[in-house]
Amino acid sequence: TIHPIILCGGSGTRLWPRSRAVRPKPFLPLLGESSLFEQTLARCSGEGFAPPLVVAGERHVALVEEQGTPDMRLVVEPAARNTAPAIALAANLLPGEAIMLVCPSDHHIANTDAFRRAVTAAAGLAAEGRLVAFGIAPDGPETGYGYIERGAPIEGGGCEIARFVEKPDAERARAFLAAGGFDWNGGIFAFRADTFREELAAYRPAMAEGAARAVAQGAWDGAHFHPDAAAFAEVEGESIDYAVMENTGRAALVPVAMGWSDIGSWSALRDARRAGGDARDGGPDRQGNVARGPAELVDCRNVMVDSDGPRVSCIGLDDVIVVVDGDEVLVTSAGGAQRVGKLDGARRQ
Ligand code: GDD
Ligand code: MG
Repeated sequence: TIHPIILCGGSGTRLWPRSRAVRPKPFLPLLGESSLFEQTLARCSGEGFAPPLVVAGERHVALVEEQGTPDMRLVVEPAARNTAPAIALAANLLPGEAIMLVCPSDHHIANTDAFRRAVTAAAGLAAEGRLVAFGIAPDGPETGYGYIERGAPIEGGGCEIARFVEKPDAERARAFLAAGGFDWNGGIFAFRADTFREELAAYRPAMAEGAARAVAQGAWDGAHFHPDAAAFAEVEGESIDYAVMENTGRAALVPVAMGWSDIGSWSALRDARRAGGDARDGGPDRQGNVARGPAELVDCRNVMVDSDGPRVSCIGLDDVIVVVDGDEVLVTSAGGAQRVGKLDGARRQ
């Protein structure tokens, strides 16, 4: 069986004002009726999957409880130390041979069947001692992703990883795309618990030791595991990408086309709503507009409205996004949506 490890961290200021510190991105019903966290749990359940292990900070416990499943177990992080330590906690709670499927809780995957097929292939490679990443065909020189250069094919599926470069600058990203043979890292990983522990110990020995100690000195309280706070506080914060994936010689890649999006901005969400064509997401109409909540759009194209109450009326707009959330209103061009996180409102929340 495969053990889903669901990561809930980060703050998600780029989807402000809908995403707020009290209810961040993973817990919002951004596409369809359930939240990205609920959809992640659903995607990793059923035949072949063990009950999920959710790793989340103290401040997310109530939301995880509210939206999670009855069989879920929860590791409550005493401090935020980024993904490598969070995954290390889970790896130390599982038997060495357990196959972990690490999933961010804030992504959208349109095609669950394609995801499951890729997971099956990844689990096979993981069983052989590989650290498996999932490759997404890039559609632009994004700088917010890891880039993976594909190596030789592996018999039975997947391929070697020639190079893993976390978040290159724009120039390098463009060069990778021009060269070809690169995928984006989807942020989803599969490996045996002991493989991860060994590779972390090889490249970040202090982190590996600190996380192991936090688990050894931690305690279960019902379905909640509390790592030792003092031991975990000493662990340095770093992502799995920098700590392990850029360094390991045991990586493998499973390329997958599954309608993946990390919904990194309001314009990405607009595109996902348009592509999904779900009536609950409000569209799209023939001009490519999508509207959730009351809206009147006259001579508009590629506009997204998302209002939790007030009616939004627009005339003659192209490529504009309007979001109303309680006492906050955001109006941005689709291009400007990348900078929402830098707004005073998004930073002060
Ligand atoms: N439990 C826990 N604790 N979860 C965390 C923590 C933490 O301290 N920090 C981050 N997470 C969760 C986030 O909530 C998210 O679900 C996932 O781990 C990945 O973290 P992000 O902070 O969103 O990483 P990123 O988007 O900058 O980059 C990663 O994802 C990209 C794809 O979306 C990298 O893996 C990139 O290489 C990748 O392309
Ligand atoms: Mg992310």
